[in-house]
Amino acid sequence: MIAMAYALEQRGEAFELHYCGRSRSRSAFLAELERAPFAGKVFTHFDDEGEAQTLDLAKVLGQGEAGVHLYTCGPGGFMEWVIAGARAQGYSEEHIHKEYFQVEADASGQGFEVVAARSGKVVQVAEGQTILDALASVGIKIDISCEQGVCGTCLCDVLEGEPDHRDVYLTDEEKAANDQMLVCCSRAKSKKLVLDI
Ligand code: FES
Repeated sequence: MIAMAYALEQRGEAFELHYCGRSRSRSAFLAELERAPFAGKVFTHFDDEGEAQTLDLAKVLGQGEAGVHLYTCGPGGFMEWVIAGARAQGYSEEHIHKEYFQVEADASGQGFEVVAARSGKVVQVAEGQTILDALASVGIKIDISCEQGVCGTCLCDVLEGEPDHRDVYLTDEEKAANDQMLVCCSRAKSKKLVLDI
């Protein structure tokens, strides 16, 4: 978020950064934010500093005006509150961007077959096993980072088959297109997936 704020400031884009926390003393990056060239666009909201500075979500979000995007990052419960608020204010799903601290990826489900189109290698993904692990077992390495369906690093193009998306990275529209998937956590609804790897 802070990196994005620097980039937006450099490009002269309008934005506000709202930082919520339990208390100032337990919050990171405050000194950097106070010194940043966009310090005037940073608004802090701490649980122990009184009602006057409490985040008024509806007011901050406005009515989902054209061109306004929301980026939210934090613990799951907080993000769900922000996202529900944005939907209530009329934000479309493409204008709501999420970065979770951590999620529990559900790897359960029946086994299926994955074909790595470039090498022609075929691998069986067992129940409870990730595609990532199954591919590694036949020597196919995929770039990864979070392994929780959060960061997008393991994104692969889908050439055939229907993914069972378990990530929180792709938008609902991207998931519905079924032409790409995150192999660290997502599975298959079809018996076979052909991936462009
Ligand atoms: S490694 Fe982060 S989404 Fe797969």
